[in-house]
Amino acid sequence: MGNAHASSSFLRLGVNIDHVATIRNARGGRHPDPLRAAHLSVEAGADGITAHLREDRRHISDSDIARLKAELTRPLNLEMAATEEMLAIALRHVPNACCLVPERREERTTEGGLDVIRGGEPLKKIVQSLRDAGIRVSLFIEADARAIEASAKIGADIVELHTGQYCERALEDDAKGIAKEVERLRTAAVLADQAGLEVHAGHGLTYNTVAAVARMPQIVELNIGHFLIGEAIFGGLHSAIRHMRTLMDQSRAEPKRPMAAQ
Ligand code: PXP
Repeated sequence: MGNAHASSSFLRLGVNIDHVATIRNARGGRHPDPLRAAHLSVEAGADGITAHLREDRRHISDSDIARLKAELTRPLNLEMAATEEMLAIALRHVPNACCLVPERREERTTEGGLDVIRGGEPLKKIVQSLRDAGIRVSLFIEADARAIEASAKIGADIVELHTGQYCERALEDDAKGIAKEVERLRTAAVLADQAGLEVHAGHGLTYNTVAAVARMPQIVELNIGHFLIGEAIFGGLHSAIRHMRTLMDQSRAEPKRPMAAQ
């Protein structure tokens, strides 16, 4: 979102508002409005707003993107598949950043990271076109050395490390698995930083899992959606974001606590 680079002590929060649109679309009307949620998120402390325009438009719509871009007071991070259709949309709206994600219509959410190595020339061209338009390019990848190397090579500005596996292990209360995934993320964050990439992370993060990731000093931005929107049902969006922000800030201030305790 901003241009802060590696090892920044401030950790930005991008609030993903996709699932406000999921609820709206369940009835086909205008309520609840993702733009209203975006404004509220900013008021509550979001540093940016993230929205995923999926190929099947199952949540965010084209007009949501236009309205977000026109009215948001904070940076817009557009998540999208690396396709010609999405590239044209991004070039029309020029969000602050685009996060390229893998997409298969039948999946429930984004499963696994982008295959940067096999993406080859077509992916490189999309990255270049976005950058030429002044859009910062992020690649949503697995915490893997080869994916990081390939991301740097094709000219990405940012990698967003997929925290899904870590969060799955946490749901299963698998202490060994959690420690392994945290270590994998930590190693990847260091490698990506050394490769000159800005490091973000996200997917599946909750109040229980955010601390271990927030403590990694190379990570400068977390993108969090589903859990926050779910929590909003019980205590309101403002309070959910405030609480997440507090946990992020507290974890950032105490970098030496043991990771495996998460
Ligand atoms: N980052 C990326 C690249 C994503 O695709 C998603 C899900 O849309 C998120 C972060 C947010 O994940 P969640 O909704 O599970 O918090």
